[in-house]
Amino acid sequence: MKSSAVLALLALALLGAACQNRRLMSHANLESPNGKIRLHFFLTSAGEPGYAVFYANQTVIDSSTLGFTLKNAPALRGGFEVDKSETRSFDETWQTVWGERSRIRNHYHELTVHLREKAAPNRLMDIVFRAYDDGVAFYYYIPEQPGIPREFVIMEEHTEFQFTGDHQAVWLPADVDSYEYLYETTPLSRIDASKYAPENERVDRAIRNFKACNTPITMKTAQGLYISLHEARQLDYPDMTLALNAPLKLVSELVPWADGDRVKATLPLRTPWRTITISDWAGGLVESNLILNLNDPNKISDVSFIQPMIYSGIWWEMHIGKTTWRREFVQGSWSNMGGQLHGATTENAKRYIDFNAANGIRGLLIEGWNTGWEYWGMDTIGFFDFVTPYPDFDLPEVVRYARQKGVAIIGHHETSGDVENYEKHIEKAFQLYKDLGIQVVKTGYAGEIRPKGERHHGQYMIRHYQKVAELAARYNIAINAHESAKDTGLRRTWPNFMTRECMRGGEYEAWSDGNPPNHTVNMAFTRYLGGPGDYTPGIFDVMLRPYRHKERVHTTIAKQLALMVVLYSPLQMAADLPENYEGKPAFQFIRDLVADWDESKVLNAELGDYITIARKARGQDKWFIGSITDEHARQLQANLGFLDPGKTYVATIYADGPDADWERNPTPVSIRKVLVNNRSTLPIELAPGGGMAVYIGPASAEDLHNLTILGGIGRK
Ligand code: NOJ
Ligand code: CA
Repeated sequence: MKSSAVLALLALALLGAACQNRRLMSHANLESPNGKIRLHFFLTSAGEPGYAVFYANQTVIDSSTLGFTLKNAPALRGGFEVDKSETRSFDETWQTVWGERSRIRNHYHELTVHLREKAAPNRLMDIVFRAYDDGVAFYYYIPEQPGIPREFVIMEEHTEFQFTGDHQAVWLPADVDSYEYLYETTPLSRIDASKYAPENERVDRAIRNFKACNTPITMKTAQGLYISLHEARQLDYPDMTLALNAPLKLVSELVPWADGDRVKATLPLRTPWRTITISDWAGGLVESNLILNLNDPNKISDVSFIQPMIYSGIWWEMHIGKTTWRREFVQGSWSNMGGQLHGATTENAKRYIDFNAANGIRGLLIEGWNTGWEYWGMDTIGFFDFVTPYPDFDLPEVVRYARQKGVAIIGHHETSGDVENYEKHIEKAFQLYKDLGIQVVKTGYAGEIRPKGERHHGQYMIRHYQKVAELAARYNIAINAHESAKDTGLRRTWPNFMTRECMRGGEYEAWSDGNPPNHTVNMAFTRYLGGPGDYTPGIFDVMLRPYRHKERVHTTIAKQLALMVVLYSPLQMAADLPENYEGKPAFQFIRDLVADWDESKVLNAELGDYITIARKARGQDKWFIGSITDEHARQLQANLGFLDPGKTYVATIYADGPDADWERNPTPVSIRKVLVNNRSTLPIELAPGGGMAVYIGPASAEDLHNLTILGGIGRK
């Protein structure tokens, strides 16, 4: 620790310093490095640990208490005294393997409070608090001790978040099996998902408390402060949902095991971080590195197999009903989405490979190549073995053809939620892909979890996802998980756990009421604060003809391009069919796009309304901008001050065309090129449900001669 920091911390953390007897200390303060965010720790008169959080002169979290109830043991919630406390400061800059930026500063002040019950058996519990400039976080640590058996059960965690106003909140229901919902925007006091009660009977859905939400939940206060609650470093511990217990108070509720236990714990127990990201503007939440900084450094020594990329797939054609995953029709299977013919044939795969090779799209996902899809979504179990191809699919030949053309095949393990079956086959399934040189696998848990009664977000499954990620790493395989649990930044530690779904993805546009224009804007300020997501954007035929007549995509085409920049994924899908891209000038944007960045900057943003993000391609002097709006047309500006001074670039702008409107007229895209430099300001005009995508690259001599420069330094 640096000595200057020691001095600063001595001043702020050792409030008990005035008393000689350190046991009398019952409160302490912690400040963020820039002093704007403060956390106050206290013990109530009943010895309950608590905290409060302040931003400048505003109270973000008022007095809130912390603790647990246990099984067959008294609660760990009160009767504590402070045994001792320690402070520490840390400041380092670390390198990401891939991501939104290449370097991240991890700068914080930390306070550890060691608590001891006053009464025998004097049980011990620590709470570790950290203050960063972009938020605060804390976790519980229960050390090995005689007063608690090595194996014990937590029945509930009681972490409170007491707010001081009825903030505008963007949230989704506390389903313990799924995040595949639209976001609600209500005052905090009105969190209520009871409108979902009628459909709460599905085997792969369960809302246990309608007055509760999943995280991240993001709020805006009347004073214009933005706050988001989530968790970080979630290992061997169930998802935390947040229940509205009093009008302005959220309290943790943990997803249970089938037997009702919440955490089957072993000493020493360290919980995930409970995080509170804070910013005075909406874009600050999106730029925050808090969640990643709270995770452990990378544990994979050779990361060469982990390759960010744009990918396509034999995928959307099943969702819109052009083809299907299965070969035979079996009544009741989810694979009956309208298509008749089998999609994953050798011939079709080669068509996609040719298309990818011609357009520089590196990855190709193939779903439905292995037997069992007839029974997907049905009560039957054990029907996937993950290794047997259907007779019309020659796996080695497809892989050979792809390799020869420079295309990387992405494997697929749909488990249907039958985890017991998956774990039986997983090693040979990974081995098969490894032998073929396949280095990315999409996993999926669409269905009821087996063992029955376990939940997609419970501890049983958290252990499973982690086991899969670590096992995959041993086979040099990266993971894109669907229907798993939310990202809490573990990608820092296991960068092969690259992306996940964990949201109501683009697929809903193909077979449901779809995703209204504000859905993706809401997700930029909620879901995506947790980590990358496989939304599957890039749809050009937004009307889904000739396959669908009722369903459609709820955006303009330009917004589909912009989503590929805004909604980050290191495996970013160009989801539409090759025939819908072929010959379309706007497809050039996808051909140019990358999925790994040196820097990401939010240029303008408002919670739930709009956001514009600029990202610099890793190791290249190229920038991509995505700007998206909800159902309202908007005029915004992008200041290009981030470009290298003294250089002239060419910007190719893909904007909503004349009279574009997601509902009435979604297809016009206007494409124009203009010269820009770091003094340029780019006007952004977004149609209702629209977007704008921009590629900024080096200008050729021809560009310099033919194009106009934007932003006031005249014609070249
Ligand atoms: C649901 C996933 O989200 C989707 O991407 C996939 O195609 C189907 N399950 C089948 O695995
Ligand atoms: Ca899904």
